[in-house]
Amino acid sequence: MPPAGPFAFIEACFRRPAPFTPIWLMRQAGRYMAEYRAMRARFGFLELCKTPEAAAEVTLQPVERLGVDAAILFADILLVLEPLGVGLEFTRGDGPRIGRPVRTAAAARALGPLVVEDALGYVFDTVGRVRKALADRVPLIGFAGAPFTLASYLVEGGPSREFLLTKRFMRAEPQAWEAMMTTLADITADYLNGQISAGAQAVQFFDSWVGALSPDDYRRYVQPYTSRAIGKVRRGVPIIHFGVGTGGLLPLMKAAGGDVIGLDWRVDLGSTWAQLGHDVAVQGNLDPAVLLGSVDEIRQAARQILDGAAGRPGHIFNLGHGIHKETPVEHVAALVDIVHELSSR
Ligand code: CP3
Repeated sequence: MPPAGPFAFIEACFRRPAPFTPIWLMRQAGRYMAEYRAMRARFGFLELCKTPEAAAEVTLQPVERLGVDAAILFADILLVLEPLGVGLEFTRGDGPRIGRPVRTAAAARALGPLVVEDALGYVFDTVGRVRKALADRVPLIGFAGAPFTLASYLVEGGPSREFLLTKRFMRAEPQAWEAMMTTLADITADYLNGQISAGAQAVQFFDSWVGALSPDDYRRYVQPYTSRAIGKVRRGVPIIHFGVGTGGLLPLMKAAGGDVIGLDWRVDLGSTWAQLGHDVAVQGNLDPAVLLGSVDEIRQAARQILDGAAGRPGHIFNLGHGIHKETPVEHVAALVDIVHELSSR
């Protein structure tokens, strides 16, 4: 196990005091950066993920350009679905597509298992290269999709607003849902443990679309599987548990597991943390749209979030969701500097 300190980010994950509030940003490697667009001119998205040397370079771009306090592996939550044989594609403009969506109990039961070292070894290769290049300047975060968000792509076949097919499936075929979610939980845990073995120093569970569910549905159809996955992740490595639109689910997400709960921008950080309990760390939660405004507005909004956290150990600054591709890179760099300046203690 690598030693936890002296990284401010790792200290904050474990609610230990840090000399400043650490900051990293979801989608910090991405299309808002000219360096990233230059790489995408040479590689398709999946091809970029599968070329460890290039994926490692993209992982490092925001570390060099922005001075963030953690790197996040360049990959995608949907990569685990490709070796399941469902026909994953990233189409330009349209986002991800699953060519053969899972719509029957038989199809759900036929999924997996996966030997992650064989199916996703290229990701572990990228992790190793990034660790080497970082030379302990900042820690590296690995990540995976949580079972519900992965299942929603499998069933819907692509992005969705209402998740009606998924909600119908989990009710109509509860046993097949259980089988599929158990398979996805086990793949996720193996995949994260593989990233940790390769050098990831923290991991984030993206349950991005779970906010579509009622608390009762979360309890019944999601929590057991997210708990199962989190419970299987190697001890000692901090786990961040994140979703969007989860204001009504946060206590249940905390119960499902994680050292850090990710908050989106729809909730007030200070009061939400108090309700959730200060026995868990929080990450967030600037509205990514604020980065489209002026640097003065960015400063004000960042200050408000830092005031909400009140210097308490256990806050990691982030956006409430990923950076929009229209964002000026100078504004992102300014945010990182502002958070460091305002929080330095
Ligand atoms: O955060 C990072 O910098 C690390 C890399 C990362 C990507 N995707 C790269 C990516 C991470 C952590 C993800 C997670 C991810 N992928 C999630 C969870 C986070 C979230 O946004 O809620 C989800 C739901 C996906 C699935 C996915 N991948 C979608 C919906 C899309 C299309 C999005 C869009 O804006 O077009 C992708 C593609 C993707 N993944 C891109 C990047 C940089 C853009 C693809 C491109 O370069 O054309």
